Amino acid sequence: MNTIEIESLTKNFGKFNAVDDISFNVEEGEIFGFLGPNGAGKSTTMMILTTLLKPTSGRALVAGFDVVSQAKKVRENIGFVQQEIAVDEYLTGRENLILQGRLNHIPSNLIDERIDQVLDLIELVEKQNETVDTYSGGMRKRLDLAGGLLHRPRVLFLDEPTVGLDIQTRRKIWDYIKKIHKEFNMTIFVSTHYMEEADNLCDRIGIIDYGKIQVIDSPQVLKNKLGNEIITFKILEDVSKTNLLSELKAIQLVKDITTKDDQVTVFASNGTELIPMIFQIASNLQIKIISISLTQPTLDDVFISYTGHELRDENAKYNQKIQYAKMRRWRD
Ligand SMILES: Nc1ncnc2c1ncn2[C@@H]1O[C@H](COP(=O)(O)OP(=O)(O)OP(=O)(O)O)[C@@H](O)[C@H]1O
Ligand SMILES: [Mg+2]
Repeated sequence: MNTIEIESLTKNFGKFNAVDDISFNVEEGEIFGFLGPNGAGKSTTMMILTTLLKPTSGRALVAGFDVVSQAKKVRENIGFVQQEIAVDEYLTGRENLILQGRLNHIPSNLIDERIDQVLDLIELVEKQNETVDTYSGGMRKRLDLAGGLLHRPRVLFLDEPTVGLDIQTRRKIWDYIKKIHKEFNMTIFVSTHYMEEADNLCDRIGIIDYGKIQVIDSPQVLKNKLGNEIITFKILEDVSKTNLLSELKAIQLVKDITTKDDQVTVFASNGTELIPMIFQIASNLQIKIISISLTQPTLDDVFISYTGHELRDENAKYNQKIQYAKMRRWRD
């Protein structure tokens, strides 16, 4: 059964197409990952699915209800933990949860028991009576997660749940998400721009780039589809000015090829067999190979294969932009 059904969903901001005609389903009980770089359209899609934003066109059902015409019903069935942490610094952890419980209309005779349960689940029992300004980033995010669980939603939306956290804390949050999933057996829709997160957490992944879904499948199938092995090599000249690519593409073992500057990445069913062939072709074309390596595919490679660029590049640029913005602020 599908818990989320999305049909030709589109969102324009003026002339800008932030979400571009996307269609897919999420099955009941699965952890679905929405993987894409900054600005890909992840939050916009999630805001539509959680009724906070109206689509320009297309349709979406969440827990069987239309996100536009049955928005109230949708809201009763979902939890949404947004990208920005939404906890009150001056309240204690427990007070934050009481507030959240009231906002979600949880009957007062149930609130205490529900809060005890989620505090136990995210291991914040000890800290519950301290104000949130004494919490670490990871603890705040855990509290934020707990707030989204109190009314026991059927579908939980998590928008970049670990962004800005260090890798150890990120891994801890993944464990909590898995625990939540197991305990409540809910459908989880999680967006991320961390490959490792998508790989580690999700049953299936949809790669989104420039508002479009590029591919959807399980991490393992996506990796397998690329071929079992990857050969990366560098040559002395500009690849595009040679016949190297067309000759490589003609080999049956070669499944896909991407290039960047002087680097060529070949996805192959049998890399060990292919390497001597690459040397042979290069030698015939009088091209000098300066380095070559053979590796197993990762989700990073999957991303490059479907989008034509690296996820890390985008984030590096984005982080640099933030850095510049901060520097400007300090200067002003
Ligand atoms: N209210 C708005 N008005 C105009 N443009 C918007 C608005 N909200 C989002 N956008 C643009 O739509 C695009 C998609 O934004 P969105 O926030 O959905 O991306 P994202 O995938 O969540 O990225 P991030 O990883 O940075 O959170 C971006 O180019 C963004 O600038
Ligand atoms: Mg976002």
